[in-house]
Amino acid sequence: MPAPTPLIAGNWKMNGLVASLDEARGVAAGLSGVTARVALCPPATLVERMSRALAGTAVLVGGQDCDARESGAYTGDVAAEMLFDAGATMVILGHSERRAGHGETDAVVADKVRAALRAGLEPIVCVGETLDERRAGQALAIVTEQVRGSLPPELAGHAFSVAYEPVWAIGTGLTPTIAEIEEVHQAIRTALMGAFGGEGGGVPILYGGSVKPTNAAEILHAAEVGGALVGGASLKAADFLGIIRAA
Ligand code: 13P
Repeated sequence: MPAPTPLIAGNWKMNGLVASLDEARGVAAGLSGVTARVALCPPATLVERMSRALAGTAVLVGGQDCDARESGAYTGDVAAEMLFDAGATMVILGHSERRAGHGETDAVVADKVRAALRAGLEPIVCVGETLDERRAGQALAIVTEQVRGSLPPELAGHAFSVAYEPVWAIGTGLTPTIAEIEEVHQAIRTALMGAFGGEGGGVPILYGGSVKPTNAAEILHAAEVGGALVGGASLKAADFLGIIRAA
């Protein structure tokens, strides 16, 4: 099976004001010759404005989370359809900051994936072990279980990706070794093929956690790495372009 087109997605987390859209425009302006798919996921407040700012460019816009429900009396929550309506075509789901900080279980993430599909959004589903889990030798088991539990069968036939983000590598400057990344990505591939058959062989598996322009080439060329989910280094166009150009 041919390797899927790499996806380089930026997760701005709770960062970004209207003035930050200049960085998004800077990313779009620097993409000539780039074959990877590129996405930026700003906070919900900026999805519509960023979508307008990037209209006609190659940069896709995504949300960082969505509610599993369609609409109703859920103060403060944002439905998948609202993100789509605002111009998003993708959504990050199951990020460890949501699993840990908002009690999201695999079952909750799977429901959000279903909601994203109903709304026409392409999900990027995050998995990853904590440092304690890695030290206990449980990384592969944890990640495999998260893949099985967070990816509902309804994903079959839809475009989606999985992001492996070891919790201890996020925002810390620490990264797993290339061998460790390859080992986990291979386990994710096996789980994807178990769940989706041959189709699971074409799902991009992104790596996330302290990806920088300086380590991007090595990580992005590792076996079974189909792109990157980038936090801090996606906030500045020059840094993000350095990662994109390494793909
Ligand atoms: P950093 O790139 O800042 O480590 O964040 C990774 C991440 O959580 C992306 O979703």
